[in-house]
Amino acid sequence: MKKILENILKEIKPSEEQERKIKKLSETFLEITNQEAKKYNAHGIIAGSLTRDTWLPTKNEFDVFIIFPENLPENKLEKIGLSIGKKVIEKLNGKWKLQYAQHPYVRGTVRSVDVDIVPCYKVESGEKIKSAVDRTPFHVKYLNENFPKKYSDDVRLLKQFLQANNIYGADAKTQGFSGYICEILAMKYGNFENILKNILNWRPGEIIDIENYWKKEQYDLLRKKFKNDILIVIDPVDKRRNAAAAISAKNFYNFKKIAREFLQIEKRSLFFKKELKPLLIEELNTIIEERGTEILFIKFKKPDVVDDILYPQLEKMAKRLENIMKEYEFSILD
Ligand code: UTP
Ligand code: MN
Ligand code: MN
Repeated sequence: MKKILENILKEIKPSEEQERKIKKLSETFLEITNQEAKKYNAHGIIAGSLTRDTWLPTKNEFDVFIIFPENLPENKLEKIGLSIGKKVIEKLNGKWKLQYAQHPYVRGTVRSVDVDIVPCYKVESGEKIKSAVDRTPFHVKYLNENFPKKYSDDVRLLKQFLQANNIYGADAKTQGFSGYICEILAMKYGNFENILKNILNWRPGEIIDIENYWKKEQYDLLRKKFKNDILIVIDPVDKRRNAAAAISAKNFYNFKKIAREFLQIEKRSLFFKKELKPLLIEELNTIIEERGTEILFIKFKKPDVVDDILYPQLEKMAKRLENIMKEYEFSILD
């Protein structure tokens, strides 16, 4: 296994050249950001995977957070944050567009590197946040102090493994494992192989609490508190938050399945996405005929909203459809 993982790592790890380039760019970026930000009593930090050497060159991205004083009104934070982001990108001859999460932020592309620029508030602790982005600087600080760099490459392997199997990312469409969760798993279990081995033993309602904030006697209470979540990863910077809340049951089991598969037969193909070609209508018809079942498709226009809004709506619609069909005595398999 060591040999195989080493080979995969050679393919997915950034070269020294790529590493130098992105680090240099991030330093320049931060410098210009700070020149702009100080006019507003704010300052920038590099956040995300670049700060722990767990980024993948296929994503080729880094994250900049601009931290504003807490008394700045929210509409100002948004406006100033966006304008600083745009300005810095333009100074570096890049291109930008707006992204929408809980709040809008700027995504730029400079010298073919993507940069996320997110404004947030300076707050007292990871528990006293105004919005989810305010927590990120605490994640950066925590991981700076606690993440052992010797596991950086193991996190890269894990991200690649999850990515290839479509379960990397906490967005509403993917409902998978975030970069932060990957880093916490490495802190908990160690290297890639050990992470996989431990995941085989996961049961629904699994609790991971690397800071030991909670006593074992409190675990049942935690499971009640997070009763809709299949995996509970206590956020090291906020003991009342489940950092794994985005993960769906399906993806939880899928992770267990691919972990078992890789431990049984160490196939490198599990690390690389298979290219799926859409079926031709004729091929689809043949398959349907051979199955001998009747398939009904519903096709409708996609409303003009971002995926993080769209997918929860689709989920809700599917649930509603399921309930209606049950009223008509269908039983739903999936
Ligand atoms: P990323 O999604 O970039 O993750 O978010 P990452 O840890 O850097 O991993 P990769 O290698 O890029 O995949 C970086 C940080 O920004 C926060 C995330 O929570 C994470 O802490 N973030 C990102 C937000 O809070 N809101 C956003 O809209 C985007
Ligand atoms: Mn990132
Ligand atoms: Mn990002």
